[in-house]
Order: sequence, then structure tokens, then C-alpha cells
Amino acid sequence: MQTVTEITVEGKVLSRVVSGPDAAGVAGILDGYRKVWMVYDANVTAHAAGIEEALSRSGRLAASVPLAASEEAKTIETVLAMEDWLLATGADRDALLLAVGGGITTDMAGFAASVYKRGIRFAFVPTTLLAQVDAAIGGKTGVNFRSLKNMLGVIRQPDFTYICPAVLETLPARDFRSGAAEMLKTFIIEDGGNYEKAVRLLADIASGASIASRTEELQQLIGAAAAVKAGVVSRDQFENGERRKLNLGHTFAHAIEWKARAAGSDITHGEAVAIGIILAARLTDKALADRLREDFSRAGLPTDLPFPLDSLAEAMLKDKKAEGGKVHFVLIRSIGDVYTEDLTVAEAIARL
Ligand code: GLY
Repeated sequence: MQTVTEITVEGKVLSRVVSGPDAAGVAGILDGYRKVWMVYDANVTAHAAGIEEALSRSGRLAASVPLAASEEAKTIETVLAMEDWLLATGADRDALLLAVGGGITTDMAGFAASVYKRGIRFAFVPTTLLAQVDAAIGGKTGVNFRSLKNMLGVIRQPDFTYICPAVLETLPARDFRSGAAEMLKTFIIEDGGNYEKAVRLLADIASGASIASRTEELQQLIGAAAAVKAGVVSRDQFENGERRKLNLGHTFAHAIEWKARAAGSDITHGEAVAIGIILAARLTDKALADRLREDFSRAGLPTDLPFPLDSLAEAMLKDKKAEGGKVHFVLIRSIGDVYTEDLTVAEAIARL
């Protein structure tokens, strides 16, 4: 077991990112917790079974329940069902809610724990690359509401996020690539020599190298991405400034996802983020956008907008980050150097 990074605010450690060899290893770091309530994505039953067994052996398992996690089911009703289950199974203020799954599972469980009895402790075992490098770190929790993504929620930190690259071996390739986009995003925000390394590794995996054969490099890069995110969140937990950088590509991406859903076509969050980052790069530097396009396509990610640019404007205005007609766009000076600028959607579209 190894502490990878911490979220520290005013000298106080709010959350830790810990890594271990396999999912069940999480049971070994629960010394300070008496009883654990576990909610897990029904897609990762095998990993959940290993954890459940280890928790039972240590006498800590109070209850566990599967969740059919999907963007459509990421609703307040699903959270209320979790509250019912916590109440019915006797969860008290001392309970730890452990969520095992991707970002949808961790977002909902974090929210459910944050409002249950005015807040109980929670922790995550993210089982997707996207959740390991982004969603399960930083304390953004919540649900979709009235067709708006993550409209209801709170920022409250998990006690810890337990990361093990081994769980990614069973992740569908498309979901892996979705996380790859968030990893590349992180290193475009803060490079530390990791962006090129990540492109090379992701390109190898996209062209057939197995995850099992590259676990060590993957672990190093996931840890580095987690550390970048933890650093940003430590400096700006409630997104008044620097944390906005983590939304690089996301104003476009949310609009792309919204349009795709309306048109009945499917696109993953990461695929939309990849296209969104390239559009964001085009706002400042067309040559840089071309370079990113090449890198992303080597990593197996889509790079072209599947709709006419104009038709994205309406969807972008619906984004919750649009305030007073202006949107906080994250722009790229160079790899490792991004900044925010407030632009109207019309100004941004014109620049493209
Ligand atoms: N996913 C962006 C953030 O956590 O701020």
C-alpha cells in the first residue's frame, strides 16, 4: 500500500489517494473504520466480490448493494434509493460508504453519503481509468437533473481514493480510451514530462499492447495525473479559479455529448473531451491543435466534431458554466500551460 498523493487544504489532509495491487487490497487500509456499506457498479461484480469477501473476513461488511450505473440512471431518485438502503440496513453516523465503480457510481455514492444524516464518511475504489485520474478525485459529487449534467451536487472529499491499475485489465477498450482523454487533458494542464510518455503508452495500448504488460508505466502515469489533480484541488477546492482549468475541453465536450444524445448517437465522455480539447486548442494555436489531433488519434481517440460547428452553440449556452452570456473557456498556450478566458459562445465560434 502506498500513498500516491493527498488533498491538503490549510495544512489539513482532506483526502488521500492510495494505490495497491488489487481491488481487494482496499480492505487492508480500513483500520480506522468500524463498519463498511458498499455500493458497486453491477458491471464490476468480480472486483466487488473480492472486496466483499475481504471485508467479511475482517468483520467490517455491514451491507452491500449493486447499482445499474448509467448516465440516465444518474438521478436524484437513484440517490434516494441509496438513502433508503442505508436507512433500512442501519447505517449510522459512524458508517463508511465505499463506492466501487466508475465516475457515475462514485459521484452518486459521494452525494448520497454527503447528505445522509448530514454527512457520513465515504471512500472510492474507481474501476475505470477516467475515475482513477479524474472523477473519483477532488470531491465533486452529484447527479444529473432536468437534462443538465451534474446539476445537483456538492463538493465534499472522500476519505480516500484507492487506485489499482489491475482492475483496468477487464475494462472495455472504449472505456479505457475515454479515460485516456482525461489523462492527456491532465498533462496538457500540467506536463511534468508526462504528456509525451502518456501519448506513447496510450498509442501502444491502442495498437494492441495489453494493459497487463504495461501496468508499471500505467501506475506511474495514473499516480502522476492523480497528483496533478490533487494539487489543483488543494489550491482551489471550490472552483473559484484554478480548478476551472480541469474543465479544459469540457464546454465543447458537454455540448457534443448533449447533441449526440439528442441525435440518438452514442459518444463517450472521453471521446467528447478529446474533440473538445482540440477545439479549445484551435482557439489559440492552430499548429498546436494539429499536433494534438495527431497525438490523440495515435491514442485511438476521435478528433473531429461529428456536427456542424454552429449547431453546438445552443448546447454550449445550456452548459451550467455559462454565466451572464460568457463562458469560462480554458485555453492552451502550450503543453503544460493553460489559462482561462471568459468568452461569449459567439466569440468562441467565430475564432474557430
Ligand atoms: N473534473 C473536473 C474537476 O473535478 O474539477
